[in-house]
Amino acid sequence: MLSYRHAFHAGNFADVLKHLVLLHIIDYLKKKDKPLCYIDTHAGPGKYQLTSEFALKNREFDNGINLLWLRDDLPECVAKYVTLIKCFNTSGALTHYPGSPLIAKYLLRDQDRLFLYELHTTEIKSLIDRFKGEKSVKVFHADGLKNSLGLLPPSQHRGLVMIDPSYEIKNDYRQVVEALVAMHKRFAGGTYALWYPVIERHRQQQLEKAIIATGIKNISLFELGIHADSSGHGMTASGMIVINPPWTLAAQMEQALPYLAKALGNNGMGFYRIKTLTEE
Ligand SMILES: C[S@@+](CC[C@H](N)C(=O)[O-])C[C@H]1O[C@@H](n2cnc3c(N)ncnc32)[C@H](O)[C@@H]1O
Repeated sequence: MLSYRHAFHAGNFADVLKHLVLLHIIDYLKKKDKPLCYIDTHAGPGKYQLTSEFALKNREFDNGINLLWLRDDLPECVAKYVTLIKCFNTSGALTHYPGSPLIAKYLLRDQDRLFLYELHTTEIKSLIDRFKGEKSVKVFHADGLKNSLGLLPPSQHRGLVMIDPSYEIKNDYRQVVEALVAMHKRFAGGTYALWYPVIERHRQQQLEKAIIATGIKNISLFELGIHADSSGHGMTASGMIVINPPWTLAAQMEQALPYLAKALGNNGMGFYRIKTLTEE
């Protein structure tokens, strides 16, 4: 039984990094006219109301999007991300935050296709409602890690698989690596974006080692921390591991991450890492 609800965390510093990377990858893939396939293995409900009791419980967006909302000195790629989030807040006030499937739908074109997986019985209802009548979107109440394999290789031959587990089950760390290996075997040319949290650094280090040990080529890591590593502080950092990243992504992150580490870091403790895990 899954209990995780992303509404408690929507718009936090981890979402900022995750959705900044998502935006850049989709923008890059769209440079070609050819259709794309977007697979979201852990889609969530689609959209979050920041005035809901869930979001207001810990006000995590105050550590993320809210710190960027009114800044006028944003690096270009961060400004683009904040402008994107503003499209979902037309009154000007920050009241809503889009999840990965909604961001992808907003950015993708008529010829592109979206496949969204969600297991939680409440979240799936919101997700189905949100995309009702959208011909380019298929929503599945199913395990995204296992079932998305059947979509690969996609008929479009181009695409992004977004993997954003909550890691509430410790097995997730192992399962994401197994899933990536299986997916990559079927669709080696695809781009894969895996999100991870840093709660206990040793788990992240094991994940990083396991990803390198897969032997998959061309993997980069982008991490943003708001507090030095320490157990007992909850999530202090999070990152994105990207297989076959756009060649432009590292330069964009070089621009964004030092700024975000400063803007979002707690008492000057923000930090970032950009690392090539495996070469092309
Ligand atoms: C971190 S949230 C996703 C947030 C979303 N990607 C976004 O950007 O708004 C993780 C979601 O995955 C769902 N989930 C957990 N395990 C899953 C699985 N094996 N397959 C599909 N969904 C799963 C959870 O119910 C939760 O809604």
